[in-house]
Amino acid sequence: MDVYIGLLGCGTVGSGVIELTRRRSAKIADLTGLRPVIKRVLVRDVHKARDVAVEHDLLTDRAEDILHDDEISIVVETIGGIEPAKTFILEAIRGRKHVVTANKDLIALCGQEILEVAEQNGVDVYYEAAVGGAIPVIRPLKECLTANNITDLKGIINGTTNYILSKMTETGASFEEALREAQELGYAEADPSSDVDGLDAARKLTILASIAFQTRVRLEDVRVTGIRGVTATDVAYAQELGAVIKLLAVGKDRDGILTLEVRPTLVPKHHPLASVSGSFNALFVTGDAAGDLLFFGRGAGSLPTASSVVGDVIDCLRNIKLGVSGRVGEVLMFRKRVDPAKAEPVSHYLRLQVEDQPGVFARIAAIFGDAAVSMETVVQKRARGGHAEIVVVTHKAAPVDVDRVVEALRALPSVRAVAAVMPVESNGDT
Ligand code: NAP
Ligand code: HSE
Repeated sequence: MDVYIGLLGCGTVGSGVIELTRRRSAKIADLTGLRPVIKRVLVRDVHKARDVAVEHDLLTDRAEDILHDDEISIVVETIGGIEPAKTFILEAIRGRKHVVTANKDLIALCGQEILEVAEQNGVDVYYEAAVGGAIPVIRPLKECLTANNITDLKGIINGTTNYILSKMTETGASFEEALREAQELGYAEADPSSDVDGLDAARKLTILASIAFQTRVRLEDVRVTGIRGVTATDVAYAQELGAVIKLLAVGKDRDGILTLEVRPTLVPKHHPLASVSGSFNALFVTGDAAGDLLFFGRGAGSLPTASSVVGDVIDCLRNIKLGVSGRVGEVLMFRKRVDPAKAEPVSHYLRLQVEDQPGVFARIAAIFGDAAVSMETVVQKRARGGHAEIVVVTHKAAPVDVDRVVEALRALPSVRAVAAVMPVESNGDT
């Protein structure tokens, strides 16, 4: 039997979904007893050239051709953004259509509302592709790992910034040069702010942390620092210290108190996350029974993302065949508190630009001492422009104490700038 699908969007992900659905339709029919058929494809411009061979009469610019078609049982949303994607998805759900989406922005902001409406209407909403592209991570967290209390999430979940930081490390390029190259190669968008300012990773962490810690995490709960401030100088110093700089997303649950952060971080070269380069993603998950797990793979791209989307479509087909929905319901059953002040002690890297005069170093050391932040490594470099550069790596220190050090350093007349502050990942720890 054929099951009809309405596809919203035919860009990078949508065209991959068309290609993979067609390539695998016989296998899917063998597996599920149902053959997926893409009946209509919603786009903005029906005359635009497409990356995939799609019959012209399938294309429409009228959403109602899909949302009001009673033959369509599954709507796949690959438009992106909040509106009109949200309105289309809610209308599809109210029309008793199952929904598959790759839209992390929408799930991070409105996921709970959408899932509640889906439950009321007896349909499923799946979103495996919203985090980590091809990497199966939502379903493992929601299903395979539910016997665990998940304590830690840590990973690289934005491919664009990982590509830029990898380029800066490999070539010594500045942030601006690496970004320009990423845009020329199509890795970064014309407006790269959502990626480089860390928002994309924060939205994905919001989704992952909500599921893993089984509580409602909001985007504003995540402390976010992007990579615009990462300089070639910091990349070079990190290398001298045996590390590379990565944008890490970190979520921790300590007895019901959460800390959530996206931040450029020095990662020792032999740490498993240090070798995740280019546009790849990787995520460590720690469960109290399972221990450490590492998920790794392509975090974006047409077919890799379609792999997750079509996997979700197959799950919808299985549910349709069995006449069930809501097998794995909402998992947000606890109320947990987010408290950035409870962030655990970690080593920190600080780069200071200071007056090159007697007594300056002693005054700086006193500030660290007063805040009980112990220095592990101190390197003084002679920089251009009549000032010296001091690089400090601390022993493990509470981020609130390091914040106090930074505040005091900024108030010191002989400190021209606290040019960089980044956490340092422990050796090989997850
Ligand atoms: P994209 O290439 O920009 O494609 C968007 C598609 O949606 C286009 O076909 C566009 O039509 C259509 N569209 C946009 N606004 C529309 C509107 N108002 N009405 C009708 N159609 C509209 O985007 P994408 O890269 O495929 O990303 C799609 C979603 O997947 C996003 O939520 C993104 O975050 C997520 N995602 C993407 C990747 C990736 O590798 N790209 C990976 C994981 C998740 P036209 O073609 O006519 O302009
Ligand atoms: N902009 C995202 C990234 C695409 O760079 O990882 C996949 O969500």
